[in-house]
Amino acid sequence: MQKLVIEGGVPLEGEVFLHGAKNSALPILAAVLLCDGETTLENCARLTDVFAACRILTHLGCRCTIRSHTVTVNVCDLRSDTIPEALMQEMRSSVIFLGAVLGRTGSCHISYPGGCELGPRPIDMHLEALQQMGARFHIHGGELDCTVPDRLHGAKIHLPFPSVGATENVMLAAVLAKGRTVLHNAAREPEICDLASFLRMGGAKISGDGESTIVIDGVEKLHGSTYRIMPDRIAGITYLGAAAITGGTICLRGTDAHPMENVLPMFEQMGCRLYPEPDRMHLLAPRRLHAVPSIQTMPHPGFPTDAQAIFMAMLSVANGVSVIEENIFENRYRHVDALVKMGAKIHVSGRIAVVTGTQTLSGASVSATDLRGGAAMVLAGLAANGKTEIRQISHIDRGYEAIETVLQGVGGRITRVDMGI
Ligand code: EPZ
Repeated sequence: MQKLVIEGGVPLEGEVFLHGAKNSALPILAAVLLCDGETTLENCARLTDVFAACRILTHLGCRCTIRSHTVTVNVCDLRSDTIPEALMQEMRSSVIFLGAVLGRTGSCHISYPGGCELGPRPIDMHLEALQQMGARFHIHGGELDCTVPDRLHGAKIHLPFPSVGATENVMLAAVLAKGRTVLHNAAREPEICDLASFLRMGGAKISGDGESTIVIDGVEKLHGSTYRIMPDRIAGITYLGAAAITGGTICLRGTDAHPMENVLPMFEQMGCRLYPEPDRMHLLAPRRLHAVPSIQTMPHPGFPTDAQAIFMAMLSVANGVSVIEENIFENRYRHVDALVKMGAKIHVSGRIAVVTGTQTLSGASVSATDLRGGAAMVLAGLAANGKTEIRQISHIDRGYEAIETVLQGVGGRITRVDMGI
């Protein structure tokens, strides 16, 4: 077991090179199954979730090699349509392999994906959509057996909610299906566009990604390619936030403003000055952040739920009262107790969190509750007076590559300590 130890109170200053997006790499690694031959993915972050996805591909019969930030996959002899429970449990979003395995083999057997720290992670929308495309499901004893009696075929599908995962699973099932699939109320996140770009690189016929209606015409086969994963916008927001909460300045390299444009106005509302350039973003923080009266998480292009905890940490030391409304997940305030233990004044009632900014926070010993909640604790520790220790950092390592090294590079006093247990 490891922990992060942070000595707070130092304004961060310097350059951060942004790694590739976790929430883009995972569906694209599943999509690789649909492509014949060899696929090379560049700018693939070294994250535990990415390694877990590669283990699933290897179990299915692919040959995976990881060299630095490049993953090469050869879909040579696919020998299984079954993902064992141990591998399914390693990664929260392993259900993303369902559409790809079905699309490739016509059958798929997985353990029913459990919930996670954010609450139950139902997949009803995934299953209803895939059923419309000809898939049949049998759920028994926590197992999900999927078969396609004939061949997956196109369908007109309307998602009741613009679910990111359900949108991705439909795309993965549709690219090799027979005929046209029209997906209404599709998720519009930038990672959806990255997945569509990757699939088009392999020969898929997809249009409308990034909008609410995606049209896919099935083709006979897809071929391998070399593709560069987009930068991780949530990691980018996190590192901008680290400079903002410590009153520092940062240059974020490897991204432009576009993927983060739905949160940049909030940084400006807090008093940060932003200077976007074609391949980088500069942030200059004020001495003390201003509160943001209202933040409501919504599907893209609204404020991203993954940035909620990050902003809550910043607003905990802002001047004034901020009101946050979490509309996407039902249990995404688990980081509040840790922030309150550090001196934050936060009152939660249902989906609403009222944050009354305090001048300072105090270091404390806390445990990461989930990926973005853990990142919020890192930001709070960087701003706090004294020492903060964060345990359960495996949550953080799912989505941030070597977070302590990145923050040390901009002056953060943060180290990773082995607890020897
Ligand atoms: C993706 O999760 C991301 N994960 C999440 O990022 C992100 O928070 C989320 O999208 C929203 O943007 C990956 O991309 C790997 P959803 P996903 O399906 O696909 C409900 C992170 O921090 N729902 O859009 O699971 C669901 O319960 C992670 O990087 C159903 O009810 O999100 C949730 O309340 C966390 N039935 C809401 O929709 C379904 O069939 C949004 O879920 C599917 C979803």
